[in-house]
Amino acid sequence: MSIAWTSRYALRTKDIKSSAIRELLKITQQPEVISFGGGLPASDVFPVQRFEEACRRVLAEKAVMALQYGETEGYKPLRDMIARHIARYGIQARAENVLITTGSQQALDLIGKLLINPGDRILVEAPTYLGALQAFNAYGAEYVSVPCDEQGLRTELLEVPLRFGPKFMYVLPNFQNPGGTTLSEDRRRVLVSLGNRYGIPIVEDDPYGQLRYEGEHLPPLVVLDRENVPHDSGYTLGNVIYLSTFSKTLAPGLRLGWVVAPAGVIAKLVQLKQGADLHTSTFTQVVAYEVARGNFLDEHVKQIRSVYRERRDVMLEALRQYFPAGVKWTYPKGGLFLWVTLPEGADASKLFLEALKQNVAFVPGDSFFPSNEQGPESRRHLRLNFSNARPEQIREGVRRLSVAVKAHLEQLRVAQPS
Ligand SMILES: Cc1ncc(COP(=O)(O)O)c(C=O)c1O
Repeated sequence: MSIAWTSRYALRTKDIKSSAIRELLKITQQPEVISFGGGLPASDVFPVQRFEEACRRVLAEKAVMALQYGETEGYKPLRDMIARHIARYGIQARAENVLITTGSQQALDLIGKLLINPGDRILVEAPTYLGALQAFNAYGAEYVSVPCDEQGLRTELLEVPLRFGPKFMYVLPNFQNPGGTTLSEDRRRVLVSLGNRYGIPIVEDDPYGQLRYEGEHLPPLVVLDRENVPHDSGYTLGNVIYLSTFSKTLAPGLRLGWVVAPAGVIAKLVQLKQGADLHTSTFTQVVAYEVARGNFLDEHVKQIRSVYRERRDVMLEALRQYFPAGVKWTYPKGGLFLWVTLPEGADASKLFLEALKQNVAFVPGDSFFPSNEQGPESRRHLRLNFSNARPEQIREGVRRLSVAVKAHLEQLRVAQPS
């Protein structure tokens, strides 16, 4: 008898769908399509030669260790390096506060496993990172969302939802995905102090913090939070779990991210990670360590910043040149994305089909909202990535997209005569 597999799937899989972005990426990989869709770093900035040398050195000098099973916590020299590296942003962690994960996406999944019981409410920004919603959905999360503006999460709206006791808050303070916005320093302080007052943990997801193109670096939430526990030199206290990754600074194919948290939280995450994958690839960790060591990572990040800054500027300029009145967009001071808002009544999913006819792609904004928040308002947005196309493609892509936008708005006007 052939098994009806769907009848065997666990209840937690019921509401799980494929990531809209991953599905879209498949369509938009045809060479004639200019894609502002994925969150892909530019492949022309990958430090290929440095990887080649590092792989050779690892195999010549450390092959036995690099090809063997390793500790779940991660390769100790890499954890030490991360601890040194983040110290410059004021994060005073030791190796026992750092867990290496298989991308920060795995960290989101492990945090879901650690903190979410079915029906728990998670406070998220609206919009928020789709991959986090996907990870948390698998554990039966529900959501309460708080809107963002150009200064990031609107912290003045937090008190009421916090009184209902969400399990934790998930926030992206730097160059948010998808909004491109940055949480102001004042709001960071308000957020941390509210978390403290109501006893609600914060998960701070920071893949883009180093990719700042203008302005001063702002203190991470984890740093502001640790100011509340000045005598905890062993880093056993604190309300913030901080995540970052090498995906946007070295290469996403490495699948290397990390968690910084109080030592007890890390120890529990380690147990959960054992059940997931024993440990992140030893070989990859050792190679990444060899690639990043010395001054290399800093120099490399400088180069990435200058490439992406130019691409951001080209996109902003092209939007100003081609897009019709009534369409707005954010001004990202870093990161990979900007967020476009169409006039009321517009539907970015319909626009997407129109845009594909023009051979240009983006991600409709709807999927960045929890399903209970999706509706006419969430459908008015699109996320544009500016890191993965060359400047001349960006100009041409925005021009093509403007043709689709104008056609879509014209259809709206005809359908709703004033
Ligand atoms: C906000 C955010 N968190 C996490 C991730 C996952 O990154 P990683 O490649 O480290 O798994 C991404 C990737 O785009 C992201 O934008």
